[in-house]
Order: sequence, then structure tokens, then C-alpha cells
Amino acid sequence: MNRNTLLCILTLMTCPAGASDIAIKIQGPAKSISPDLFGIFFEDLNWAADGGLYGELVQNRSFEYSPEDHGGWNEMTGWDFVERDGGKGFVTVKSDAPLHFNNPHYAVLGLQKNGATGIRNSGFDGVSLKAGEKYDFSVFARQLAGPGGPLVVRLETKTGDLLAEAKLPAPDSGWQKYHGVLEPTNTDADARLVLLTTGEGQVALDVVSLFPQATFHNHPNGLRADLAQVIAELHPKFVRFPGGCLVHGDGVDNIYNWKNTIGPVEQRKEQRNIWNYHQSVGLGYFEYFQFCEDIGAKPLPVVAAGVCCQNSGHAVTQVWEQGQRGLAMADMPAYIQDVLDLIEWANGPANSVWGAKRAAAGHPESFHLQYLGIGNEDKQTGVFRERFKMIYDAVKSKHPEITIIGTVGPRPNDDDYRQGWKFANELGIAMVDEHYYESPEWFLNNLNRYDSYDRTKSKVYVGEYASRDNNLFNALAEAAYMTALERNGDIVHFSSYAPLLCNTRHVNWKPDMIYFDNTNIVRSANYYVQQLFGQNAGETYLPMSVEPAITNFSISCVRDSQSHDVILKLVNASTNAVTARIDLASVGKINPAATRIVLQGAPNGNNSFEHPYEIAPKTNGFTASQSFSVEVESTSFSLIRMKTK
Ligand code: AHR
Repeated sequence: MNRNTLLCILTLMTCPAGASDIAIKIQGPAKSISPDLFGIFFEDLNWAADGGLYGELVQNRSFEYSPEDHGGWNEMTGWDFVERDGGKGFVTVKSDAPLHFNNPHYAVLGLQKNGATGIRNSGFDGVSLKAGEKYDFSVFARQLAGPGGPLVVRLETKTGDLLAEAKLPAPDSGWQKYHGVLEPTNTDADARLVLLTTGEGQVALDVVSLFPQATFHNHPNGLRADLAQVIAELHPKFVRFPGGCLVHGDGVDNIYNWKNTIGPVEQRKEQRNIWNYHQSVGLGYFEYFQFCEDIGAKPLPVVAAGVCCQNSGHAVTQVWEQGQRGLAMADMPAYIQDVLDLIEWANGPANSVWGAKRAAAGHPESFHLQYLGIGNEDKQTGVFRERFKMIYDAVKSKHPEITIIGTVGPRPNDDDYRQGWKFANELGIAMVDEHYYESPEWFLNNLNRYDSYDRTKSKVYVGEYASRDNNLFNALAEAAYMTALERNGDIVHFSSYAPLLCNTRHVNWKPDMIYFDNTNIVRSANYYVQQLFGQNAGETYLPMSVEPAITNFSISCVRDSQSHDVILKLVNASTNAVTARIDLASVGKINPAATRIVLQGAPNGNNSFEHPYEIAPKTNGFTASQSFSVEVESTSFSLIRMKTK
């Protein structure tokens, strides 16, 4: 092989064009690559948690919304007061003698005499109900004055027609939880939940909750099943959570505190979301770890590096770069202890202080935490470095078994990136988290980014990347890039597209991988690329030559050690079809009964609620052998999975 051919193989870029016939051949020794290369990044933005993956159907269930969360919001946002059957009264919000000090506000419903008064919740853009399914209702209530009477919970259409009803006992004078099961007669995507008091007096109400019984894996306080299933079908090897900017927060008081997110939901501390809304934290650390376990993914929590987001203040001032601030040095020991406690909570024995809390939540076994991210694309300042090192040293010394992931800024090659890498090299950090949101052309022009990375330095986690749109061409640019990640899977250990989820009525950030509303889910073309790589990953990379190398055509070939399958991926981001002659002689015996999956369409094709499957993979049988030809369609991603035993 001459030097030019070698260069073409390395870059798979612009060699003499026009050639639509190419020869692809296994060339060179196989190498081990990360078995966990493709995972997901979950952030609570675009209403990804409340009103998204979290199965709760009542919005502002604990009356904790406030104007700081979002201009114009208050404790009664999402709720209306209703008077029924001639009942007269009022609703107000109080905070004395609350259910729990972390959950200070509650509603007080007054009824003067006969009839009923109540509160009606409109859910997250409507309460979405399915006929024939069962829903668990619960509320904490306390009779403050008067004799009171039974509570009545109703599911109603928007115009007040009854869909289901349950009667609950008259509340006691102390806080108690009351339950009911509701089974709506009709499917309705825009229903309402109404909670009525039928006895004279005043009743306090808090944590008014409605969940489908059919959550993902049927967990109580669980996840929306259809959305969780779509995520599970990516076959992610890890889940990074609870976010990017959400983690380091909008000011030091807004830094995500995992301890506020565990335990009974009525005792969790809700808080403002940096993305200009609210976090009930009902989807908290226990639920994240449980989800990882359910889908066979490794948990990858990220904690702030003791500094807030460098863009803090944006929601209020609409001005970026308000400045990074660090926790006061006096607060750092407690903060570091919180990080150490997280590891004990996840992995410690059930009789340890924090392991006992995990066990009390129903999980005495370890969650097998192996990785911990510290920091999220933070500005590389002295304030950051000092705090990062304090946390890093403490975790390393107490938990050498945990692999720490550092951070190297928000862009692929700026000053924070360079400073971040310098710092990582000084400390010898095991892995660093790179982020980039760039054009598809950038991805296609940077396929050799990791070819020259020093294999003796930190491993790489490509923690956030996307090619800035959801057209097929964008997805193909990402697919091409993912072939390069596989080629560099000896240095790139993890990667995750970002962001994962977007509720189409509450968009903070685009593009995203999965779009949804209360009843629809759309997998983007980018989703299918991630899914095809996730479902067809391998732990051994088989280097291949392409002659002649042509523009915007990339390949990779891996072997999956469990099935012994060899998986060939061919990404043609050009508008010309390519005929590829494949030589797999050195792989050994190949079973002719293979599978070919093709994702193809117009470069600007994409999926929508109206056309959810415009760009979707098609699977066909394929006859493979040690040497065969395949027509790779224009703007397509083809995957051939072959059995070798
Ligand atoms: O993925 C959206 C945002 O992009 C993340 O919160 C942040 O880390 C990055 O800037």
C-alpha cells in the first residue's frame, strides 16, 4: 500500500472523486475497542423529565411552582378552583405546618356548607388517559377546620364530562395519604383531574398525584412507558444524567443536589430548573439508577465541580456570560462529602448510612456505580480548577475504584478545550468529556480527529455532540463520525448524542434525538443512526482499507464477541451511489444468511408527527460470503450483520 492510499484510509476523505466502484478489504490487525462506546445523555431540558419521561400526570402536584421558576408562575399554576352542586368556598395556599419542610406549600380548600368545592389540574398540556388502563391517584390531606367530608376524585373531559370517579375517606386532622384507583371509560389526551371536598370546613391538600399503573417496568413513581421503551431500544451502554448545564446550575444556589432527589417524593426538595421551568425531582437519583438497571446501562452521574454554569443569570437577564462562581471554600467540605456520600448511596452495603437509604427505597443491592463525571464544560478558571481538584483528590483517595471523568469545555478546539486538556494531563485524569455542536460538514471534515490522540493520555468521553439538525444528511454526518469513533474506540471510551428528549410544546434546544407530546413520539433520523450503532456494537475493531477512498464515504467493521457476528457499516453521505466490493477473507467462515439494514432517503428528509417514518431503517435478508459486492445507495447508511459461526 502506498503512502497516498494509506492517507486516504486514515481520513476517508477527498481522494480522486468520480469513482463509484470501490474495494473494501480487511487490512491490518484487529484491536480491542471500548465495549461501552455508545450511550445516552439525559438532561431535564425541553421538559424531558416532568411532562416527559417522568410518569406523573399532575403538573405542580405539590404547589411549589414560583415566579422564579418561570415568569408568571405561582403556587397555583396548573390548577383552577371549582365549585360544584351549589357549593361555595375558596382555595388558598399556605405554608405553616407543612407536610415536610422540604415541601413547604400546600393548598387549602374551603367549603361553606353544602355541595362541593375543588381544584382541577390540567396536567402537562392536558392529562393524557387511555380507556381500559388503571391509574393510581394519591393525595396527602389534613382537615384543618369543620367536620369535612369524603374527598371525591374525578377524571373529566375538558368540558366536564365524567371519565372516572373514586371516593376517598373524609380526611383526618393530621397529614395522611389517601389512595384511589381510576379507570377512565374513554381515551382522552386532554383530560382534567378534579379533586373535590364534600364536607363543610377547610381541608389542606398536598402532593396530588396521578400515575398510570403501567409505567415502564411497572415501577411505582415510574417512567412513561412508551418513551422509556423508545430510549431502551437504543441499547445504550450507559446513561449520563441528570444533565449538562442543569448540573452546575444557574448560580451556586441552583447547583443540582442529588440528596434532595431521593427518599419519599413528598420529602424531596423541588427546585428551579436552569432551563426556565421547574423540577419536581420526582424523577430523582433512585429513579435514574433504577432506569439504568432496567435497560442494562451503566449509570454515569455527573456532579458539579463546585462552580455554577458560566452562563448563569441568563434566564433573568437574557445576557450570557454572567460569570462562573464557585462555592465558598467554607462550603466545600460539605459539598465534597455529598459527592462521597453519593458513591456510598449507590454502592455501599445496605447497613452503611447512605446505602441504608438506597435499601429503604427498595434496592438493598449495589447499583454498581463505576463512573463519575465531575463538572460540565466549565470555564477553565482558577476558581474551577481549585474546586475540581479538591473533589477529584477526595474521590480518588476514598474511592480509587471509581473512574472519574473530567471536563474540557463546550467546544471542540477553543481555549477551554486546550486548558482543560492541559489540566487533565497534569492531574492524570482517567477520562475527559468533550462537547461539540457543529455543522454536518464539520463532522465530515473531522473524521480523523481522534486518529492522532495520544493513547497514553486520558481517554475521551464525547459527552455531547450533534450536527445541528434532524435531516438525513445530518444523521449521516453523525453516522460517518461514529464509524470514526469505532475506529478510535481504543481511546474514545464513551459517546452520547445530545440532547436526548424534546417535548415539542416546550422547546429549549434543538435539534434533539426524540420528539414527543402527550401521545406521539417521533424518532428522528439521528435516533435511528444511534440505534443502529447501539444495537450493532462490537468490542473488536477490524481495520479495513478502501480503494480508492472517496468523498463522504465512511466505513467501519466490528466483531461482537458474544454473538461472534461481524458487523460492517457503510455510510454514504454523498449523492452518488457506490458499488463496493467487499473482501472479508481474513474473517474466516461466514454464514451466507446475513441481515442488511438500510437507512436511506433524500438528504433533507426528516421525520415529524405527521410523517414519523419518512426516514426509518429497512431490514432485509442478505446473502453474505467472504467476498461479495453491494450497492450502497446515495445518502444512505447500510449495515450488514454476518454470522461467523
Ligand atoms: O445539551 C444542551 C446543553 O448543551 C447542555 O446542557 C450543555 O452541557 C451544553 O452546552
